[in-house]
Amino acid sequence: MDFQKIIDKYYPLENEQRRIYMTHARKVADLALDISRRHPELNADDAFIEEAAMLHDLGMFLVDAPRIHCFGDAPYICHGYLGANLLRNEGFERHALVCERHTGTGLSKELIESSGWPLPCKDMLPLSIEEQIICFADKFYSKTKFLEVSRTIEQVEESMRKISEESVEKIRNWAGLFL
Ligand SMILES: [Fe+2]
Repeated sequence: MDFQKIIDKYYPLENEQRRIYMTHARKVADLALDISRRHPELNADDAFIEEAAMLHDLGMFLVDAPRIHCFGDAPYICHGYLGANLLRNEGFERHALVCERHTGTGLSKELIESSGWPLPCKDMLPLSIEEQIICFADKFYSKTKFLEVSRTIEQVEESMRKISEESVEKIRNWAGLFL
């Protein structure tokens, strides 16, 4: 698949929104590929990792997040699911799953149910090795400031602590496998 063609379709203008998108996606893709190459025992599909990492935030432009130059209507938490729908319509179900399963360390059905977020009540948890690597790599890069600077593993754990102890635990497990 030609991921750049899909990005160009939804981010056609040379503006700050596209710059943030491209910089973040490239950083996440490079880290995910680096993890996969350092861990051949994981048997991950590198071509797919690059495509899906470059597309994981495709739904970003549809959310209301002026800080990252996004002026849509949806809450930020929906960007994964909205991006997945765009990719499903393009015929890329496997890539769509990476989009909808990369938020935090994944969103469980119970969490979605209790949160009241406008998301379908189903598990959106990273399952395949590629989904897990991309979700993990994404946690090292912010879209708001210091776009190009990687967080340390300690900073990633700290940011997950704001979500839940369970997600800190998941990050620690991934760190053991991927770092
Ligand atoms: Fe991301």
